[in-house]
Amino acid sequence: MSLKKEIERRKTFGIISHPDAGKTTLTEKLLLFGGAIQEAGAVKSNKITKGATSDFMEIERQRGISVATSVLAFEYKKLKINILDTPGHKDFAEDTFRTLTAVDSVIVVIDVAKGVEEQTEKLVEVCRMRNIPIIVFINKLDREGKDAFDLLDEIEQKLKLTVTPLSFPIGMGYDFKGIYNIWEKNVNLFSGDSRKNIEETIEIEDVSSVELDKIVGEKAAKSLRNDLELVYEVYPPFDREFYLDGSLQPVFFGSALNNFGVRELLDCFIKIAPQPRPKHSDTRLVHPEEKEFSGFVFKIHANMDPKHRDRLAFVKIVSGTFERNTPYLHVRNGKKMKFSSPNAFFAEKKEIVDISYPGDIVGLHDTGNFKIGDTLTEGEEMQYKGIPSFSPEHFKYINNADPMKSKQLEKGIDQLMDEGVAQLFTLELNGRKVIGTVGALQFEVIQYRLEHEYGAKCSYESLNVFKACWVEPKDAKSAEFADFKRVKSKFLAKDKRGQLVFFADSAFTLQMTQQKYPNILFHFVSEFK
Ligand code: G4P
Repeated sequence: MSLKKEIERRKTFGIISHPDAGKTTLTEKLLLFGGAIQEAGAVKSNKITKGATSDFMEIERQRGISVATSVLAFEYKKLKINILDTPGHKDFAEDTFRTLTAVDSVIVVIDVAKGVEEQTEKLVEVCRMRNIPIIVFINKLDREGKDAFDLLDEIEQKLKLTVTPLSFPIGMGYDFKGIYNIWEKNVNLFSGDSRKNIEETIEIEDVSSVELDKIVGEKAAKSLRNDLELVYEVYPPFDREFYLDGSLQPVFFGSALNNFGVRELLDCFIKIAPQPRPKHSDTRLVHPEEKEFSGFVFKIHANMDPKHRDRLAFVKIVSGTFERNTPYLHVRNGKKMKFSSPNAFFAEKKEIVDISYPGDIVGLHDTGNFKIGDTLTEGEEMQYKGIPSFSPEHFKYINNADPMKSKQLEKGIDQLMDEGVAQLFTLELNGRKVIGTVGALQFEVIQYRLEHEYGAKCSYESLNVFKACWVEPKDAKSAEFADFKRVKSKFLAKDKRGQLVFFADSAFTLQMTQQKYPNILFHFVSEFK
């Protein structure tokens, strides 16, 4: 098959949601449709549950599962579908943000009763910033929930999306009769028996026909007609171009657990979702159809077995074909590297592959060469953009608690930072090391992993920082910038790349500093140039 055909048949996407909305269940049902798994329950939830086990044991368990479920690939109607898994726990949000740099579209799952939740808001904001095409799936229609129109309003307001329903529920919860599929123009009747997964699809070209009354009853038919009238009046018609450029979001209703509305979602998804898209590097826009291979690392996973310290670097292929045992340029360190056992991912296993195409993810064994964001090419000096670090929100001094193991500690911290577990800052004033994280749980992760994987011990000391932001003077030689550096010297640090960072101890300080130094920009993401 030609490269063009291989690209055309690939869809790489992520499912995002607030924990418990049904991401795992939906993933599983999609895999069942693809025939990639045979029974429900095969996909393990990667969420961190607070329960009997201590947090870090839970984290280890989760890490184990997340290797297995990082990428779930399956074939459906001759297409190759790659689902990139995203952790639901908010302390791992940064992992999810990075994964979003590797998807070509997303499906957002929303719980019909809970509506738009906090985590969904944050994740959708990142998708919106990047104009990632979004399909919304409103889940758990078998339960009582919010009114469909209220929910659509809430989605538009809280997520700042422009929605267009492509299906619409007929009743809800106890009264839930089924779904009218606006996209395919048919009615799906809900059997309500999750074990049988029976659903009946009846073509209804014209909802005003008496056929509808016969199928769902007069009352439900009438209310569906009214609802649809309103839908057609209020919402813009579906337009694929608008969906693809991120300005229109189709919405589906269903119940993942009951396997209801999932096929409709999948069948529409494969028709409308984008194939692998071009990506900006620091020098140019790179198209998937280009012959020469290029790709970037969006995730690094440490081996769970402490005896084998190698890691798996997840590379999204942007252009050309990636071939086994072929030398590629690791652009950041200028070295050519060959990979003898690149892994491809399937629903429940990974396998060595000889060749992979744009949209695919390959897992490369790494002994410490890769950092998140690294680019591989056939020789071209370019770096993919769009994998920024986010301004951390929790800060602690990190100290060496076992002076005999300082080398191990240094190596451990270095590697964990490369994996993107947290960010390391060095204070300008005294060289002390500060760890900044997006979630509080990461401090435990770091301490636990340093001890178990590197044999090093660390202790923390609290540090009062509200936010760290990257500093960019409009003129690095200005008196204003010199004054800023003098006055704020106690609050300045360098990140791992040597970029200057300002630690503001409160929102007020940050605001005052911004006012006092109008020619200095304070950024909340590391990539601003
Ligand atoms: P997540 O990955 O987004 O965190 O959610 P997950 O799929 O694990 O689903 C969270 C809970 O919601 C699960 O129940 C799951 O069975 C349930 N669920 C998912 N889809 C539906 C649906 O369409 N209808 C209803 N009624 N429930 C749904 P749980 O009790 O937490 O777990 P489990 O013991 O059932 O696995």
